[in-house]
This record gives sequence, C-alpha cells and structure tokens, in this order.
Amino acid sequence: MKKILTIVGARPQFVKAAVVSRAFAKASGFEEKIIHTGQHFDKNMSDVFFEEMEIPKPAYNLEVNSLGHGAMTGRMLEKLEEVFEKEEPDMVLVYGDTNSTIAGALAARKMHIPVAHVEAGLRSFNMKMPEEVNRILTDRISDILYCPTETAIQNLKREGYDNIDTVIEKSGDVMYDAALFYKEKGEASDFVKSLPQNNFVLCTIHRAENTDDPERLAFIVNALNQLNQETKVVLPLHPRTKKKLAEVGLKLDFETIDPVGYLDMVQLLDRCKFVVTDSGGLQKEAFFFKKHCLTLREQTEWVELIENGVNTLINSGEEFTSHAKRLLNETNFPELELYGKGNAGEMIVNSLDKYFETH
Ligand code: UD1
Repeated sequence: MKKILTIVGARPQFVKAAVVSRAFAKASGFEEKIIHTGQHFDKNMSDVFFEEMEIPKPAYNLEVNSLGHGAMTGRMLEKLEEVFEKEEPDMVLVYGDTNSTIAGALAARKMHIPVAHVEAGLRSFNMKMPEEVNRILTDRISDILYCPTETAIQNLKREGYDNIDTVIEKSGDVMYDAALFYKEKGEASDFVKSLPQNNFVLCTIHRAENTDDPERLAFIVNALNQLNQETKVVLPLHPRTKKKLAEVGLKLDFETIDPVGYLDMVQLLDRCKFVVTDSGGLQKEAFFFKKHCLTLREQTEWVELIENGVNTLINSGEEFTSHAKRLLNETNFPELELYGKGNAGEMIVNSLDKYFETH
C-alpha cells in the first residue's frame, strides 16, 4: 500500500483533487490522505466543495490564511514538514500554482519525499504573477509532472527539462473530468433556474493584477456596469475583490452574489451566454461548456484557447465593449479536443502505479 498525501488549500485545488481522489478510491494499492493548508477558509470558498464534490474529509487542516506571501508560505512549510514527519508518505501530490502548491512541493523535496505536480508546465511568462513563480519553482522540484496540454510539455522542453531527471506525462486536464462528471450529477439551484437561459454573462474577478491596481479595477468595474445595462451580469464575488472594491471606493451598480459552489458554477456555465473572467480555471471551463470567453489579463497560460479564437485577452474598456458586443451576437462554437478525453484522473493514478513499480 502506497501512502499519498494530497496538498490542497485554494478553491481550484478542491475541484482538481476531487477528480484524482475518486480515481484513488477506485484503484487498489493507494491510501490517500488530504492535507488542507487552510488558505481558503470561508464556508462558500472551501467546505461547500468538500460536501458537494464528495471529497474525503481532510486528515489535517493547517489553518494558515490571510497572511502576506512570505508568512503564508513560510507557516505552511513549517506545518507541512511536521505532518510529513509524522505520516511518512511515499509521495506528496500538489496541484496548480498557489502558495499551497509551492509550500507542499518544497517541504516534501527537502525531506526527500517524491513530489508529483498535477497541472504542470503552464506558463504565462509574467513573472509578476505570484502564480507564475509558484509554477516554475514547483515544476523544477517535482519528480513527476502531469501536463494537461501539449503546450505545457513544449514549455518544459524549452526550459531544458529533457536534461532534468523528471518524469513528464501528458495526462489531459483533470478539470475536464470534473466538468463532465459533476454536470451529470448536479441539478440547478432555484437561483440558477431563475436566470434568463442563454441570456446572462457569467463573470469572476480575483487576480492580484486586477484587484490590486486601482486603475485596472476601475476599468473593469466601468466595463461591467456598462455591460450590465445591456445584458444581466452574474458575478459571484471573491472575498479579495470585495475587500479591494470597498478599499478604493469603487461600486458595481448591480447586485453581486456570494461565491458559488462547483455544482452551481457548472450549471451557470452551461446556461450563460458567454464568460468574462481573470481566473485560470474558468477560461477552460467556459470552453468545456462551449462558451466564448473574454479574459481580463495580459497573458494566459491557456494559449490554445486564444489560438482557436474562443478566448480573447482584454486590457481596456474599448476592447471590452467591442468584444462583448461581438459575443452577444455570436452563436457558433468550434468542435475541438484540447484538454484530453475526460479521463485524466484515471491516467494519473495508473501512472503513479507504474512509477512505484520502478521506484
Ligand atoms: C489564490 C491563489 C490563486 C487562485 C485563487 C483561487 C495564490 C498566490 N493565489 O488567490 O492562484 O486562483 O486562490 O481563488 O495562492 N479570503 C477570504 N476567505 C476565503 C479565502 C480568502 O476572506 O475563504 C481572503 C483572504 O483573507 C485574503 C484574500 O481573500 O485577504 C485573498 O486570498 P488568498 O488566499 O491570498 O489569494 P486568492 O486571491 O484567493
């Protein structure tokens, strides 16, 4: 029996871990324990995901949150090391690009515990993003890199990974597995049912580059206020954004909603007209549900969406207005397979099985 410790902390990691945890439970030969760093802690940012997605209850919650990057990552490192000492895992599994990801990978690496990174090889080429730093460092200290796309594999090759002793595998994207599985499972809530079908825009904003730059935040708020005059905007508001809007005195002139759970998110994606976001995950989820996306960022890691014309980067009010107008009249969406076949979870668990046969 191989003991796997899965490190999660932030919302998108709960979604990704749900998929792989289900695959572990089906396979034999693995004991998985989940460690929640505590980075996200509100009921609707954390608990609801564990409940709805039936993720095993975390064996530990380290309760590290609401701190600067240094203190947050440092405290996580310290506490994770203690857990690893006690649990003596055969492998530590980390997801994505958050402070919880780098803390998990670094603590394990220093203790000579093998590390597997799910969603490896992504790059935005913007070193000002904390997530980009987390990605690059996590990839470099991991033993197995599960890449969702061909682009991710090419990014690693360009960084010289052919000469680094790491297993690199194209697994497909676990978020695609999640979208397929939970779409079938879930039912729309009364709130979602009350929305005009195919006639509202789904929006999320929380990235530091947007929330922490008052000028950018102002352009986004104005653009959304304007769009909402024409078509209803549904905006589940991230706590970071809520705090920043209040701090700089910017006002959305429509009612926002609290962050929603994954099951409602899937239903919102399925029913919306198009998506406006700065989230990494939501850009892809829009694609899974055949919705066009406007991304409020200078770069994206998911370049294949841009190349195929289903996602557009937006950096000014003018760009926003003209593309929003275009998408309100758009009815076509291309048939493409960019993120695997929806069996990434299974592929990852099979691959870990093989890894342990030889290591
Ligand atoms: C983090 C990740 C980001 C990921 C995002 C998903 C890093 C560097 N960033 O950003 O990659 O896309 O999660 O949401 O790890 N807060 C609450 N309640 C919560 C969670 C957060 O009030 O449940 C507050 C925190 O106290 C903090 C702010 O929101 O003041 C931001 O939270 P933080 O965890 O620092 O980063 P995110 O913006 O969520």
